[in-house]
Amino acid sequence: MTPELRDSAAFGAVFSDHMLVVDWNNGKWGEPSIVPYGPQPIPAAPSVAHYGQGIFEGFKAFPRPNGGAVLFRPDANHARMNNTCQRMAMPEVPASIFVDGSAALVALDRNWIPEKENSALYIRPVMFGIGEVLGVKPADTFRFIIETCPSAPYFSGSVDLIAEDVYVRAFPGGTGAAKCGGNYAGSMLAAIEAQKKGFHNVLWLDGIERRYVEEAGLMNVAFVISGTVVTPPLSGTILPGITRDSVLTLLRDLQLPIEERRITIDEVFDAHAKGTLQGAAGIGTAAVIAPLGRLRHKDREITIPKMGPESPLMKAGAELEGIRSGRIADRHNWLLSI
Ligand code: COI
Repeated sequence: MTPELRDSAAFGAVFSDHMLVVDWNNGKWGEPSIVPYGPQPIPAAPSVAHYGQGIFEGFKAFPRPNGGAVLFRPDANHARMNNTCQRMAMPEVPASIFVDGSAALVALDRNWIPEKENSALYIRPVMFGIGEVLGVKPADTFRFIIETCPSAPYFSGSVDLIAEDVYVRAFPGGTGAAKCGGNYAGSMLAAIEAQKKGFHNVLWLDGIERRYVEEAGLMNVAFVISGTVVTPPLSGTILPGITRDSVLTLLRDLQLPIEERRITIDEVFDAHAKGTLQGAAGIGTAAVIAPLGRLRHKDREITIPKMGPESPLMKAGAELEGIRSGRIADRHNWLLSI
């Protein structure tokens, strides 16, 4: 690894030297080991391949001077992973494995953390059923792995979306709020079709009426309308993003107006027609705050106004970046120093 490779790596292009591996069987977790990054044998008929018990998380580590580093909100990602475990009938992961294991792994591969502004070491915990089952029931053995990769933000420019009116991502009572691989598998065809039409991804609409905006491709979404940040509420069909939560917290700190409420695709187009739509962004760990560009719905298309530094979303983004880089005090205790 050279610092140039590390600092210029696109999201997921290269993995760091080590990974943490631990199995759950006979009703308990084993001892985690940190091993060189590489293949790990699994049984020939793992339950994840048949019935999809596979889940993951994503969070980031940032460098500090003199060889130090910080993890951003690992406890929040740990809590969300355990919620996903419950939904997918998988055993919960203790903090001693998830949080302490991430810290130990990042400490060992500290030199893989990019030193470039806005880049980070992306930490990817993943867990899947490896027990051999053909009957449809939870696996009796699971593997939990943490891998890391240096990464620049997921998107380099603005993100063009087409509102999806054929496929849906989630519906009430489904797995939309869980971070399970199946949600992402189910989204790929829609993304491919959007890309064929010249867009990056789709803007997901609700699964019942196909009117309410839910997510922007792989991210949460927020609009700036007449100075207020409007974002769909966590209704059970939307992933409870940690970056979304951080941005909303910082907007509240800055006393900037927020509305967590349902918003229809028509309201977005109407706000654009009236001149009150001042910007919009996808919000996620990998992408941070990714401004939206073109938005199409059926036969109408708009270009969402660019957000300047005075936009509330950009102000919250700058605050978030300041906290993660250490320039602004960590007033919410979000950073775990290692
Ligand atoms: C993240 O933003 O961390 C995600 O999990 C989305 C990803 C699959 C790129």
